[in-house]
Order: sequence, then structure tokens, then C-alpha cells
Amino acid sequence: MLIGTAMSAHQSEGNNINSDWWYFEKNGKLPYKSGMACDSYRHYKDDIKLMKRLRLNSYKFSIEFARVMPEKDVVDYDAIDHYRDIIAELKKNGIEPIPTLWHYTLPLWFYKMGGFENRKNLVYIINYVKLLLSRGLDARYVLTLNEPMVYAVKAYLTGRYPPFRRSFRSMLKVSNNLIHLHNELYDILSREGYKVSIAKNMIYFGKLRRVYLPFGLSEYIYNWRFIKYAKMDFLGLNYYRNVDPFRLVRRRSNKTDMGWTIYPYGLHSIAERYYNAYKKPIMITENGIATNNEDLRKKFITEHLNTIITLRKEGVPVIGYHYWSLLDNFEWDYGYMKKFGIGHVDKKTGKRILKSSAETLKRLALKYE
Ligand code: BGC
Repeated sequence: MLIGTAMSAHQSEGNNINSDWWYFEKNGKLPYKSGMACDSYRHYKDDIKLMKRLRLNSYKFSIEFARVMPEKDVVDYDAIDHYRDIIAELKKNGIEPIPTLWHYTLPLWFYKMGGFENRKNLVYIINYVKLLLSRGLDARYVLTLNEPMVYAVKAYLTGRYPPFRRSFRSMLKVSNNLIHLHNELYDILSREGYKVSIAKNMIYFGKLRRVYLPFGLSEYIYNWRFIKYAKMDFLGLNYYRNVDPFRLVRRRSNKTDMGWTIYPYGLHSIAERYYNAYKKPIMITENGIATNNEDLRKKFITEHLNTIITLRKEGVPVIGYHYWSLLDNFEWDYGYMKKFGIGHVDKKTGKRILKSSAETLKRLALKYE
């Protein structure tokens, strides 16, 4: 089985100067600055060394649209080659590269043209993907979009991410455009022989969804509507949290530093339903905990990986698990306060330092490889 970690470009690379996030971090509309992040753009080899040391065999990362196309008509071929180098280095170390073509951030020029709200703009991101392919993208699995519904909701409904909008209509419009984009990319990629999916965030809504209409509706829109229309060869799943209105789980469980309850059963239930609906292999593209308590992180990793093993025994084909995250990194509108990593970077020396939970992931990776 594939077992590894995940990170994204803006959150780990540092200096993503041509992106919309960078722009709003600088002008203060976003609360925190990403700055140099983990400096992984320059230190990716050190990151890969860590993975190798931990005997991990898979890595989900993202390619940054804003680096590859810093201006509307400018292509940075060095940036494309940089991502090719990352893939080559991963493969050299026996690690499956799982590239994600888009993880929340946009080139500022694309943002200024209206981003994903305008369907006419999709041609630019499609061209960016064609460019990557023309240069050679040496991967078996490709994820087109990271959590399109999280983005649609946070950027267009709750207004926490650029463009800070609060409109249900815009949220739906953007999610429809993203479905369209995904399917266009799917066709291009699958013609080339890639196995394609989405990193789809799902929240466990509990049994209440069956009897309480607002829950049922939210669950449908958030979890299922997007994938109902999306073509996929395998089922990418990001699982972090459950909805717990009466605090039934919360009373029994620890909370993460994001305020989320820890509920591995939710992963079991969602993965099972996802599989039963589409009958394709499942890849856990992200799962993780923000905490400073290493015992809690170890427990979290163990319980969630055990859930995967149970699912496999029950006949649900789970082909991979990616812990978010390899290193503490830039947690969007929470900055650097939330620590998801099994490792962190010493800001002075740039040295990567593993936490004790890294050993837990290593032990389980060895057990289930
Ligand atoms: C996102 C990551 C984020 C993580 C923790 C996932 O929803 O893909 O970018 O850091 O959750 O909140």
C-alpha cells in the first residue's frame, strides 16, 4: 500500500510572490504572511530525505500555477523543470509522486481576471496543464484539484479566502466551473494514460443527516454533489473532521488545535459509502491533526491507519494513505500557529527535525507496506 505524507506548494515552498495569496498577505487583507514557509522550494531534497528515512513510499504535493505562469503570457520553464526534478528525485528514492495540479492559490493575473468565477478563464489553467504535459509529467496518479468545495465555500460563501465573497450563488457557480474544469482536465490526462482523481474533502455528518433536512442538504452539496458529476479513475479522499452538533463525540474525544473532534469512525463510514457508490479504489489523499501533543498525534495516526486496514479487510480497496503533513507549514488563515507536521523546520538553520510521531508513521508504514 502507498503510505506517505502530503504538503502543498504555497504552504511549504516559500516566496510564492506571484500568487493572489501573497498579494493579500502583503496588503493585510489576509491575517498572516506565508513568507519563506518551509523553504521547500530550495530544500525539497531534504524533505525527500526525511521521507526516505521514514520508509515512506508516496508523496502528495502540488505544482504552483503562479510559478509556472507568473504573468498572463509568460511561462517559466525553469519552474516546470523544478517540478520535474522533484518528481525525478522522488522516484529515485522509491517514492510515488502524487502531483496535484491546483491547491487553492492562483496567479495574481488570473485572479484579477475573475479567477474561477468566469468560465472563460478556464482555458488558461487548461493551457497550464497542457504545458506541464508537453514538458513531461512523469507520474502514474494525478490529482486535478485539491478540495474544490472547501475552496468554493471559503472563498465565495464564508469569505475567508480571496476573493472574500459571501454569496451562495457565487459559491455554486464556482463549484460548477470547477466541476467543468476537472472534467476537461480528466479527458486530457486520461487520454495520456494517467490515473486521475480529485483530493475531495469530506466531512462526516453523522446519522442526523437522514432526518434533519439542513444537514442532509449541506452534506449533499459539500460531500457528494461535486463528485456526482466528476469523472474519476480512483477516489481521492481528504478526511479531517465530523459535524457534532450535540457534542456527542466531543464529550468522549480529544479536540485538535483546530477545534475539531477526532473521529476515525467518520473515515470508515465515508470511505465505505464512497466506495459503495462508485466502486473504484480509494486513496486517502490527506488526513491529519493539528496539535502540540505528540501522544495525541501518535494515537490519531494509529487509529486512522487502523481504520484503513479494517476497511481493506472488509473489502474496500484503499490503495493509499497520506498524513498531512510532513512538516509544520503555513496553515492558510491560521498562519503558523497550527502544527500538523510529523516534523518541523528550525527557522535559523533550515534543518528539518522529526517529532516522535514520525516514528509511529514509520513503524506503520513498514508494517503495511
Ligand atoms: C487542505 C490543506 C490544509 C489542511 C489542514 C486540507 O483541507 O488541503 O491545505 O492545510 O486541510 O487544514
